[in-house]
Order: sequence, then C-alpha cells, then structure tokens
Amino acid sequence: MREDDSTRGTDATWWRDAVIYQVYVRSFADGDGDGTGDLAGVRQHLPYLRDLGVDAIWFTPWYLSPLADGGYDVADYREIDPQFGTLAEAEQLIAEARDLGIRTIVDVVPNHVSAAHRWFQAALAAGPGSPERERFWFHPGKGPGGDEMPTHWVSDFQGTTWTRTTNPDGTPGEWYLHLFTPEQPDLNWNHPDVRREHEDILRFWFDRGAAGIRIDSAALLVKDATLPEVPAHPGPGEHPHVDRDEIHDVYRGWRAVAESYDEPRVLVGEVWLADRARFAQYLRPDEMHTAFNFDFMARPWDAKALRESVQTTLDAHAPVGAPATWVLSNHDVTRPVTRYGREDSAFAFGAKRFGTPTDLAAGRRRARAAALLSAALPGSLYVYQGDELGLPEVEDLPLDVINDPMHFRSGGVDPGRDGCRVPLPWTRGGTSHGFGPDGGAHPWLPQPAGWGEVSVEAQAGDDASMLSLYRRVLALRHTEPAFRADFAWADDLLPGDATGDQVLAFTRGDLLCVVNLGPAVPLPAGYDVLLASADLEPGAAGTRLPTDTAAWLRRTPPGHATGTTPA
Ligand code: NOJ
Repeated sequence: MREDDSTRGTDATWWRDAVIYQVYVRSFADGDGDGTGDLAGVRQHLPYLRDLGVDAIWFTPWYLSPLADGGYDVADYREIDPQFGTLAEAEQLIAEARDLGIRTIVDVVPNHVSAAHRWFQAALAAGPGSPERERFWFHPGKGPGGDEMPTHWVSDFQGTTWTRTTNPDGTPGEWYLHLFTPEQPDLNWNHPDVRREHEDILRFWFDRGAAGIRIDSAALLVKDATLPEVPAHPGPGEHPHVDRDEIHDVYRGWRAVAESYDEPRVLVGEVWLADRARFAQYLRPDEMHTAFNFDFMARPWDAKALRESVQTTLDAHAPVGAPATWVLSNHDVTRPVTRYGREDSAFAFGAKRFGTPTDLAAGRRRARAAALLSAALPGSLYVYQGDELGLPEVEDLPLDVINDPMHFRSGGVDPGRDGCRVPLPWTRGGTSHGFGPDGGAHPWLPQPAGWGEVSVEAQAGDDASMLSLYRRVLALRHTEPAFRADFAWADDLLPGDATGDQVLAFTRGDLLCVVNLGPAVPLPAGYDVLLASADLEPGAAGTRLPTDTAAWLRRTPPGHATGTTPA
C-alpha cells in the first residue's frame, strides 16, 4: 500500500495525472460462480487494485443489456444487468472503492441504445410518423417500394448501417440507422428528449458517487439530418456522421452538469479522430476534461513513430490546456504483448486476421518497456485489466465460443475482440484459475492452457514478473515528485552514437527516461538507475541499455558515486 493513501483523492484536479484502471466487468472476477464476471467479484479484488496503485477504475457498461455488443447495447441506463449485480451493489462498490482512495468512472453510451430499450420498442410499436420514432433515425427507403436503404454509410463494425422494419401487417416498413449492429439503433441527438435524458443519466450516476464518465463513440452522436452520402474526401466537419461541429454543444451541456457538483465530475471521451486539431476541440475548457490518445496506442513499436506521436500529442493538447492521456490497449484492441511481437505492430481496426504470427518473448519485452515509457509521459495513464499481468491476446479461441459481433460482421475474417476479453487468472490452480469460486461454472470464454502461470498468484511473489514491474512503476509514479515536473526531450543525453530513430530520451525534472528500440547503447554517465524494464548489461565503458528496454534514471547528486558506471 502506498504511504500517501490518506491524501489520495482530495485534489479537484486528480484526473490530470491519474492512473485509471479499466475493468471489463464480464471478465474481471466472478463472485457468484455463474461464469460471468460481476460486481461482487470486483468488490473482492478492490484491495488488489489499491495495492497496484490505481487512482480510479473505469467500468465498461454494467447496465441492463442483452449483451449483443458486450453491454454497449444498453436497455436501461439506471439498472445494473442482473448478471453483474444490483444497483445497490454498484452503490456499495463505488463507496468501498472510494474508501480505498479509488474513484469510479462509469461508461455512458450516448450514440445508441439497445433495440430492447423502452424508447426503441415504443418507436417500433408506434409506427411511421410517430413522435416516438423521432428519437431515432427512422426513414423510408429509396427506390421503388422503398427497398433501398436511405444511405450507403458503412458501419464501424463493417457492413451496412440500416435495417428495415416490418409493419404490424407484415409488410416491409421504414429503415432505421445503426452505426454499429442492428441491435444498437442510433439516437437522434437533434431531439430534446435525447439531450435531456442523457443529462439526467449523468446526474443519476454522479449522485451515486461516480467521479466521472467515459463517453462511448463520442464523436459520432450528431448526424446530418439531410442524410447525404459520405463525400470521397470530407473536409473538417463535413462528414455526415463523424465529428460534426454541432456535437460540441452536447459536451458543453455535460460539462456544466459535471461542474455543478462540489467535487466536479470528469468527462473522458472516446474520440477516434486522425485530425489532431479537431480532436483537441473536444478538450476545450468548457467541454471534456480528457480523451483517449488512440494515436499513441495504435503506433507500431518504432522509435520514430512513437516520438512523433508523443510530440504531436503534446502539441495538440497545449493550446487547450488539457492533459494528454497514454493508453496501450483496451477491450477493443490486441493485447500489447501480442501486438508488439508482430512484424507490423501498428493497430488498425478491421485489420486483425487469424494466424498472424507474433514473437511473444519480444512482445513481452517491448510491453514492459512501453509500460515505463507511457507511465513517464505527462498526463493520465490507462491500464487495461490484465495488461499488468502481461496477458497475451488469446488467438485460438474455438470458433463456436466467439461472441463478438465484429467477428460475425466481418464474415468471420476478423477474429474480433474476444481474445483480449478472456477472464483473468487470479490463482495458479482451480477450475477457473480463481476467476470464479472453485467448482463454479466455466468462464464465459475459456481460459487457455498455461493461464495459471500468468496469474496474479504466480506473479505476485516473483520480482521479475510483469505484475511486480507494474507495481513498481505505479508506486514510483506516485511518490516521485519528478513526475509532476515539465517534460523535455533529452536528445543531448542520447547515449553513444544512438539517434532518435532508435532511442527515446526525455526528462521530467531530474528524472530521465530512456527507451531503447535499437541495439544496446551505453547509459549516460552521472545517473542512478531507479527502475529498468529488463536487466541492464554491464560493459567496460559503462552500463548498457539492451534492445527493447526502458530505464528511469536520476541524476546522481554531486559527490556521490554514479550508479550507471562501474566503480
Ligand atoms: C466503443 C467501445 O469501446 C466498443 O467496445 C463498442 O463496441 C463500440 N464503441 C460501440 O458502442
């Protein structure tokens, strides 16, 4: 446990440099033994998260849902799905976490609801032209008999974005829009009910102690009501359903709700936008507090690419005064250990394929170095559950257990996202490696052979494990004042003949972070090693930083023997 526990959580700007741990509830821990993770499981493991050193937990959707998209299809935002627990338990969980100094961020999904949501059911029942349908995008089809869909917009999950309804008399009816699956109809954000309802949902969770919200698909809400086709090369704000200028009003309204609390609540956006200036617009002082840095997350293990991402990130955030975020993965993307071991280690949606080779030893080494890199950068840090254990992507799930609609909508070509959602291993043995109680139901996705060896139990006492590394990284990040100091590239300290194409070097105050993606290089003289992601190499001319290794160094105070050069 950290020494400063009593002071954690008192600062209104805690989110500017917080460590936020993402819990994918279904796969974290199963308290009741039905094979699905739940709130009881999370409550049991709160001390683990406290000891890991996290400031907040972001919970992926835990609301009532048919789980057509893992809960991103919400049937009722004010109810917890019975598979996960009850509203009373969620309230208890929020309070218990807070007692341990851990804040709660809930996931709000404003772009769409579940087809089972009462609004959508009412809209289907009320029929064409009804006020109930105006909360969604119902539209007659084009062409003879209205047989053609209103637009050819392509879904983020591949395929089409319109589904035709059937009238009560059995004849084909209107179409409705869904940027994701047909089970996730898009809401009409021009409708005042939709705006009012969401501000109310925010208050509902803020009143229950949630410290903030993560906003799903945050750049997609507003649509061009004239429903044009997507232009070949849309300019800024010209896309009919991505990043429309009118969207910012929504977030200004939400910020006002967040600011109306004594301890202002925090808005974190899931904003996938290549245009960094447009991205930064979401972070203006009266909009969101932070947004995920997917640019950094998607970069390959390449010094030039990572450096460029760090620089453009900092450049984009500076004018709006918002802190950057550093993200290595989440429940939608390939686990870092697997991704960084691939020949092409960049991430792109829809590009996943079965059978893509990876070198897990290299990937693990790089993921360890990436942990030091991301944790040393200025801003907040996200850790996706299981990355602290160095879990690989599970790439050989039997086809008949795959659950993710992305897989099915790709015609089975993309394996989908289940490989990073396999239930966590807590113990070496047991029927589900401690995911659930021994003798309980099998986990909803099968755990692969060897899962026990990467369990919390197996790693906790092993000094060389990924878990031990993460614990040290997060502890130092909290205790070292240097992590509150300014960032500066330190190319002048680049060791030997190394270039910025191989080595990233930067300072935060008196702390120097060096990440070597090329051949081994000497560490600069006059520094002590605080932490390294792998063993350093002793050498005649001084200690060397091996390939795919990161180190945190501190300038040796004058008069002391330096720690990086042999005595
Ligand atoms: C982004 C979420 O992270 C993802 O899991 C989900 O499928 C889509 N938004 C749709 O809600």
